[in-house]
Amino acid sequence: MVEKGGDAIAVGSDVEAPPEKRTIGIWEGLLYLNGFFTQVDGYYTAFMGRYVFLVAAHLQFAITVSVGTYVANIDLDDGLIQQKIYVLVGVIAGSYLLMQIAKPFREALLMWYRVKGGETIGTAMIAKIFNLPLGEITTTPTGEFTQLLVQNGKITETFHPAFYGIAIPLCVETLFLFIFLSAAYKYAGMVILVLFVTFSTVGYITALRMSDRSQNELRNGMQMFGKLVGYMASYERAHYFGNVDHTIGLVRDAITEYNVNRYNDKVGELSEEFPMLMFGVVCHVLAPVLIALSMEGSTLFQRLAMIGYVVGVYLTELQQFTTALAQIRTGVSDFTVVREFLERPNAVGDRPGAVELAPGISPAIEFKNVVFSYGERVILDDVSFKVDAGSRLGVVGSSGCGKSTIMKLLLRFYAPTSGTITVNGQDIYSVTADSLRSLFSVVTQDSQLFNGTIRENIGYGKLGSSDDDILHAAKLAELALGATEGENNDMNLDKPCGEKGAHLSGGQQQRVALARAMLKNGMCYLLDEPTTGLDGVVARQLQDTFDEITQASSTIMITHHLEDLKNADQIIYLDQGKILEHGTFDELVGAKGEFYSQLEARKRAS
Ligand SMILES: Nc1ncnc2c1ncn2[C@@H]1O[C@H](COP(=O)(O)OP(=O)(O)O)[C@@H](O)[C@H]1O
Ligand SMILES: [Mg+2]
Repeated sequence: MVEKGGDAIAVGSDVEAPPEKRTIGIWEGLLYLNGFFTQVDGYYTAFMGRYVFLVAAHLQFAITVSVGTYVANIDLDDGLIQQKIYVLVGVIAGSYLLMQIAKPFREALLMWYRVKGGETIGTAMIAKIFNLPLGEITTTPTGEFTQLLVQNGKITETFHPAFYGIAIPLCVETLFLFIFLSAAYKYAGMVILVLFVTFSTVGYITALRMSDRSQNELRNGMQMFGKLVGYMASYERAHYFGNVDHTIGLVRDAITEYNVNRYNDKVGELSEEFPMLMFGVVCHVLAPVLIALSMEGSTLFQRLAMIGYVVGVYLTELQQFTTALAQIRTGVSDFTVVREFLERPNAVGDRPGAVELAPGISPAIEFKNVVFSYGERVILDDVSFKVDAGSRLGVVGSSGCGKSTIMKLLLRFYAPTSGTITVNGQDIYSVTADSLRSLFSVVTQDSQLFNGTIRENIGYGKLGSSDDDILHAAKLAELALGATEGENNDMNLDKPCGEKGAHLSGGQQQRVALARAMLKNGMCYLLDEPTTGLDGVVARQLQDTFDEITQASSTIMITHHLEDLKNADQIIYLDQGKILEHGTFDELVGAKGEFYSQLEARKRAS
């Protein structure tokens, strides 16, 4: 691999170096997740929210603990028994009331916290997609991205309640109980500690196993949804070829495969739950005995009260705690998949110190000995050419010879294996990608329209454009367009274009695409077979429009309508990644080579 100017970014790859892969631990996962909350707008509020919430959650447990403590300390020999019972009942009722008040408050805060977290991570995930190299986008099924996004929402939903709502408060409660009981009786605190430690250990081990399964399920799910979304998008194709039943069969297979995997995992889980269940039963039997034995010197009532508290309240909480542990562990484990995604290598970004290309200048473009391959296969082999500022280059050659690849390299979607590409004498890797891309107005064979109105589709070229600007661009692109309904039949700014422009004719789609490109007002036009697939007359008219519009700008025009290149300043004829012929239209015709024979063949065919 060739290093460019000693910089960190190597030529020959459009991808940054990948990070090492590993499953993350609870603590690391927590810190990583927390990192997203520090990015939340108004972090201060999030921060306060979290602590107010923690206090609220503790309040609930603190009340439970005090009731337990009070009960354990009732002295039956004291003459004030009746008053004490009144106070006890009052405290229980009061604490119940407080807990009920704290609950919705706690839930609201948690909900706010989850929503914010999901929002930040969700946005980070979408932003990530735009930073991935094009190669990655074209190989990953869209459904995988979508599923990961949905699952991410679920992770933030369960993780935070489990962690902040159950795990932390229970630890605090245990600490209080331990201190209090140790102070009052010699061994009772130890009993609580042993219960806590064994429950956490057993819970954590179970959680570890569950977390692997959960990660598998997540990956399985992503795969399945990747397939399903692909099948769903095949509506037209399936109908054209009578393959609807076949496609539905494939859908069923994908779902079955996912469910069989999930079923196996679930059965494994159930068989592990049984020992946990037995463990719980044993603890429920042993705990009261141990508590009773450890409370030396206390009355029978005190012992009974304490047993009631430990069995009725504390053990139940411990069991919730083990469930919470599993949720935390699986949350973090699932989050490993999200993090893996977020740490996928980006497309090579700007070099440190990359400069802005000066805007507003019709650029000169030069390819010097450019070599490029997708993997093993060499696509461009030592390609050199120069487009002077304001001039027009025609690129021709058989399908698959590498024409579009030239544009993708120029736009920095892929990096050449060797050789350099310059714009106005500056290496395209020494300038920022944004300033580079802002130079070009691109029209491709696929018009890249989205499901919005014509106004939105043209306006996309320069966001915030006025209707007048949009209508002006449409006029230059010779798209007969009315501002309102009724003018020019149904072609008006409010007309919906349909999915991928399906509600417009091919010629109209390309004119909308051209108007969009013109609105962007790039200083160089890159036209990649924009008239391909249109009927002869429409293609001819559209080509005239292109010629007219691009007259003063640097232009690279890829086409297989060779006769459209009569007024190109130069033409290159590509064959298997090499430039076979290079010259003006007349020179190439005069040379009577490949270009000439292709031209003749086209004439005969039409
Ligand atoms: N993302 C890709 N991964 C692997 N091979 C590709 C990719 N894109 C294009 N190719 C291959 O590279 C060659 C050149 O493609 P392209 O430049 O699109 O051809 P064309 O001259 O028709 O525009 C083709 O043979 C194609 O199969
Ligand atoms: Mg192409």
